[in-house]
Amino acid sequence: METVVSGIRPTGNLHLGNYFGAIKSFVQMQNEYNCYFFIADWHSLTTRPKPESIVNSARTILAEYLACGIDPEKATIYIQSDVKEVLELYLYLNMNAYLGELERTTTFKEKARQQPDNVNAGLLTYPTLMAADILIHRAVKVPVGKDQEQNMEMARKFARRFNNMYEVELFPEPASFSFTDKAIKIPGLDGSGKMGKSDGNCIYLYEDEKSIRKKVMKAVTDAGPTVPNSEKPEVIQNLFTFLDIVSSKDTYNYFEEKWNDCSIRYGDLKKQLAEDIVTFTNPIRERIEEYTNNTELLDKIALQGAEKARESAVKTIQEVRRIIGFK
Ligand code: TYM
Repeated sequence: METVVSGIRPTGNLHLGNYFGAIKSFVQMQNEYNCYFFIADWHSLTTRPKPESIVNSARTILAEYLACGIDPEKATIYIQSDVKEVLELYLYLNMNAYLGELERTTTFKEKARQQPDNVNAGLLTYPTLMAADILIHRAVKVPVGKDQEQNMEMARKFARRFNNMYEVELFPEPASFSFTDKAIKIPGLDGSGKMGKSDGNCIYLYEDEKSIRKKVMKAVTDAGPTVPNSEKPEVIQNLFTFLDIVSSKDTYNYFEEKWNDCSIRYGDLKKQLAEDIVTFTNPIRERIEEYTNNTELLDKIALQGAEKARESAVKTIQEVRRIIGFK
């Protein structure tokens, strides 16, 4: 059975971008693949979280994973920092990762701009840690959103480089995966860029109805179409992207027709969209509440997951050590 790995940083609650970019694929893939889904708590250290928030943030994501339908009987769910072998592989990969290529990655440049007082080596080597997460289980598929494409390219490059350097075929080159055919980017509702925590434009899976409706009704629109069948400007296309992922085909087609004959009323579209988002998130929110209160269960799942993940990680690291020349 082919192996799949993916992770999410525990920096707050999960949002619709995380769900449609990654988690929806996790839930589908767990039935067909040997899956490892983890919580990337080491990665979150690049922004210096408070010690007391570390354990709680990991539990939050764990509860949300379960509420979305990731099943610990089918997939291995673990916390990154419980599998120390990842760090050893991170070190080996770093020895063959070059300053120039790390500095050129878009996320590094972006982060360096966002936090100029804290441009740390962890930010620079973020792609090698991510590659170590994936290669430690020798994964072939990685369900991620479009924003991770460059990191995935780096992971493939590091895998290839290791194989070439030691003339082995240890690491497969991992491919990005999405439940649709192409990489997904969920937009923000503020008319700009992607939905992201640091951009403050998220709809969270845990968000209450009132707040969701308010955010959707406030979404940016324009004056409306004047020419039939015209191309949609970005802010309107964003709303249709949301309709496409949470509403029925009929609803989507209804508003598409209204757009095409220039009779669309954005107020109606947003009302329907808010309704459909709420219908989608409500049951997830209820399950998040149930799991969040059951810390004993969460800790048990994390422990069992760590044991299973370590079994696989130890096998890879033993091979790597042998190949590199350590006894
Ligand atoms: P993170 O924590 O930023 O996001 C987690 C997942 O959610 C996806 N995502 C989106 N997809 C579509 N549209 C959006 N607006 C959107 N926002 C977030 C991300 O693409 C991602 O799949 N580097 C990773 C975490 C990581 C990882 C890994 C992932 C660490 N090691 C190994 C895969 C494999 C990150 O920061 O994701």
